[in-house]
Amino acid sequence: MATLNDLPTPCLLIEQSRLEANIAAMQARADAQGVRLRPHIKTHKSTALARKQREAGAQGVTVATVGEAECFARAGFDDIRIAYPVIGGDRLARVANLSALARVSFCVDTMPGAQAAADFFAARGEAAEVLIEVDTGQHRCGVDPEDARAVALAQAVAESPGIRLVGILTHAGQVYKGPAKGVSKKEAIQAVSRRERDAMLRFAARLQEVGLAEPDSFEISIGSTPTMHAFENRREGGFRITEIRPGNYIFHDAMQASLGAVALKDCALTALTTVVSRHRTASGRERLFADAGSKAVASDQGALTDGYGQLLYDARRMEPLPHARIASLSEEHAWIDVPGGSTLETGDRIRFVPNHACACMHLHETAWIVDGEDVLEAVRINARAR
Ligand SMILES: Cc1ncc(COP(=O)(O)O)c(C=O)c1O
Repeated sequence: MATLNDLPTPCLLIEQSRLEANIAAMQARADAQGVRLRPHIKTHKSTALARKQREAGAQGVTVATVGEAECFARAGFDDIRIAYPVIGGDRLARVANLSALARVSFCVDTMPGAQAAADFFAARGEAAEVLIEVDTGQHRCGVDPEDARAVALAQAVAESPGIRLVGILTHAGQVYKGPAKGVSKKEAIQAVSRRERDAMLRFAARLQEVGLAEPDSFEISIGSTPTMHAFENRREGGFRITEIRPGNYIFHDAMQASLGAVALKDCALTALTTVVSRHRTASGRERLFADAGSKAVASDQGALTDGYGQLLYDARRMEPLPHARIASLSEEHAWIDVPGGSTLETGDRIRFVPNHACACMHLHETAWIVDGEDVLEAVRINARAR
């Protein structure tokens, strides 16, 4: 059996026991709250890993791009939600072409976007399933559910022959900003999670008042990884949340750990890297350089992360290496400061938990499922760059 020493660095490792535990834990949470789990595959971009989520009970997948939808449909995933507005005739045509392979739905959040989709599908004599994207505090895409124009958009969608309103969808990404001053991390996540749920249930009730939503058939789709850790379903006016779409949970990362959503020991994805150089600066500071730069692990930073990932002792001891800090990344180098001096030498291999797992997977063609030092399986990241 191959071991970590046989792998070329930099590369991505997925610790099998943690992967399985993360998949099982989110599925158990969804089951306990009476919702379908439709994982967002933008995190792993791998049909092989999505199959593991499906085997554990996940129903359907969420994607961010039409290219991801195509990749997953061709691999046999027949229920795909594009959690993104589909704008432009070329993309609409690609979505329409998938209908022979999969049930595909997508988001609308503007009148012109909805109108263009309606015209496109009506001209083909078809009706595409759409969900209205709702802004529950992230202020990215989505309608303000308290604004009368949100109901007007829903009405326009319902009256358009080429599209069919099947539900509403939100992503409370503001949770990644971390807590306001004086608020604990746990309370901050709980507050965003409640707002995400309650704003959606209220909006559904408003749509019911004007005859646009019925409790048993209307999809109410929410989900980020941190808010799902705190999610508790409830009923309002007959409506309940029907589906959750976390993605990052399959791995977790240093960003999730810094937010207090999970512990570092829950993070399944690590980067394996080789120390390629070691120097003492004029000021006496010890600095190591390793071969995992921004092209291998991405330079994303979270609101509460320190540096560019969390260094671990070694392959077996998945614990933080005290004092060592990934101070900077250039394209092919990680700049690692070890204030007290380091026992590491050039050629040594180290592992670290990246800040943002989703951005890392996108940069590689393969990741390796491992059990400590044993390499068990190569995973193709076959929807990367789509
Ligand atoms: C629309 C949408 N849904 C779901 C998710 C999954 O959230 P997370 O990455 O926190 O798991 C994201 C993440 O960016 C998203 O943009």
